[in-house]
Amino acid sequence: MNIVVGITGGIAAYKAVNVIRGLVLAGHDVQVVATEAALRFVGRPTLEALSRNTVATDLYEGVAEVRHVAIGQAADLIVIAPATANTIAKLAAGLADDLLGNTVLASRAPLVIAPAMHTEMWQNPATTANVATLVARGVHLVGPVSGQLTGKDSGPGRMAEPEDIIREALAVAEVSADGASGAGRSTAVHRDLEGRRVLVTAGGTREPLDPVRFIGNRSSGKQGVALAVAARDRGAEVTLIAAHVEVPLPEGVEVVRVETTAELFEATTASAPSHDLVVMAAAVADYRPVSISDDKIKKAHTGEHLTLELVQNPDILATIAHEPHPGRLVVGFAAETADDHDALLELGRAKIARKGCDFLVLNSVGWRKVFAADSNTVTVLDASGAIVFEASGSKTSVADDILGVFAAALSGAQ
Ligand code: CTP
Repeated sequence: MNIVVGITGGIAAYKAVNVIRGLVLAGHDVQVVATEAALRFVGRPTLEALSRNTVATDLYEGVAEVRHVAIGQAADLIVIAPATANTIAKLAAGLADDLLGNTVLASRAPLVIAPAMHTEMWQNPATTANVATLVARGVHLVGPVSGQLTGKDSGPGRMAEPEDIIREALAVAEVSADGASGAGRSTAVHRDLEGRRVLVTAGGTREPLDPVRFIGNRSSGKQGVALAVAARDRGAEVTLIAAHVEVPLPEGVEVVRVETTAELFEATTASAPSHDLVVMAAAVADYRPVSISDDKIKKAHTGEHLTLELVQNPDILATIAHEPHPGRLVVGFAAETADDHDALLELGRAKIARKGCDFLVLNSVGWRKVFAADSNTVTVLDASGAIVFEASGSKTSVADDILGVFAAALSGAQ
């Protein structure tokens, strides 16, 4: 697909470069149209290297090839991320005083915008009216979400995460292409979890040592949240049990927040019986301190060496998997530091046998691999230890691909 990515002048432009990267990696031809203001936030070389194309900015460049309309005419999809309050106002007014405005006006392609601005600006009646005008015209909005903004403030106005922008933009393009060809698909691409209840655990648990310290792990929760989103988009009713998660929590799913493994155990074992698919993506602390100090642990009391006594936590996955529940599927995750793929498979096979779950999603981790990254490579094993699926790509696409496997298994299990 020919995709125009419009970058406008907001600090979130630094994050929007991942939209370009993700679309290029997904095989699309990306033409970046950046406003002058955008280039104050991200450098042209970054945009050109990631898009593998020259960046268009100036209305008066390429006049001979009628560039001000050519880019828009050739586009199959236009994504503007970030879309500032100023850009939204200009789009609503149909202004064409820069290349991006011309490109949008000269295009019949679907337009997806990811607003990013401070809460006051987002909630200003002028912006509200401009957004309403755009929505009424069929422009698709992704976000903004609520969260930390550029300054000390937080609230609605933060740009949606790049992988959410990519997923929603591609879904919009697909729906629109289907509409044009008469196939008329209206919502998400696969609705194979319609009527199913899916429980996903995400993030990393934290075990407190004292009021200010904890033992934790490097899980960002990205893969688990991507699974919850993908299950929601496939039509499922989703419960997301979130331990410490570093990405915004999605809308349209029921969220239960937990901190420790004991809390995760409580919440998961209470919810599991009412769900058809349980996906345990959370990174669980295997041990907790035997005692938690009421007061901050002080060096003056502990001296040169400090020994912590830990006790094993219950295994939530094994507990759930060993409860018979016909028709329900239980999926575990395993992040292992293996030397090669065979060693990884060996660890995975031993783990699924021990846990007793229906599937195990296996990946290899290291100091710089997987945690907090946007992409992932996984191997899915079934209960016999056989490889049933392998996937690689963004955590969003991996989540969607493996959910397809579980959805098919669920319908076979009925
Ligand atoms: N898990 C769990 N309860 C625990 C530990 C892990 O439910 N107390 C789940 C995780 O959510 C994951 C799977 O078990 O789905 C595998 O986690 P992992 O940490 O790899 O397994 P462990 O049993 O802790 O094995 P290891 O000794 O290799 O850490």
